[in-house]
Amino acid sequence: MSSSDLIEKQPLDILVEKLKEEFKNPQPEGFTGNGEVITQLLSQYVNNHNDWKEYVFYCPYSYSRNLIAKTELFELMVICWRRGQPSPIHNHENQRCWMGCVKGQLEETYYVFRDTKCTRGKGLLEQSYTHPIDNGSVGYITDEIAFHRMQSIAEETISIHLYSKPITECNIYCPEKGTITRKRLGYFTQYKKKCNLAVNPDCQPPQTNTPIVSDCSSSSTTTSSQPVFLKY
Ligand SMILES: [Fe+2]
Repeated sequence: MSSSDLIEKQPLDILVEKLKEEFKNPQPEGFTGNGEVITQLLSQYVNNHNDWKEYVFYCPYSYSRNLIAKTELFELMVICWRRGQPSPIHNHENQRCWMGCVKGQLEETYYVFRDTKCTRGKGLLEQSYTHPIDNGSVGYITDEIAFHRMQSIAEETISIHLYSKPITECNIYCPEKGTITRKRLGYFTQYKKKCNLAVNPDCQPPQTNTPIVSDCSSSSTTTSSQPVFLKY
């Protein structure tokens, strides 16, 4: 018996194993992994377990992305939000995204192009739908549904996000100007360890020491501040 056999598997480890199995299954739509099965796996986890706490880090300047697991087919992470730390409006690069809330409450706002009322087109955006994602609920979005902005309604919110396939860059939309910029997506922690912000470009904090309140403000921000990690 190896030493690893003696370590009891945590619920997140079991979830990752089940996801690895499910994402092997080809789907008629061209994806791998059945969407309903994956939603059920995530829902079962978020409603019954709390070992996600080991991955929680807050940043004073931005919501933080904390990697749990990554394969060629999916990535799983804990995102920690404080009120006033919204995401920019973004797409999902034609990938699928599930979001399970384990603490607090998220608000998801959909955006579509004003002219076409969908995500095909260009120009100015408009809000099309806003709804909460409560503690214990699992949300789902694709580019077919909408672009979206996520934010915490509660003082602090924690959610578990599953992307298939992993997304390393995405579009950021300015709704008023109709401009689109590309954003590289990094992590604040990976496998419970802080990223080396000095050498890993994926782990850079936002280029501002003020909360992101506008998707059009990135070109005017100049200050780079190191985030302070606060253990949950
Ligand atoms: Fe998203």
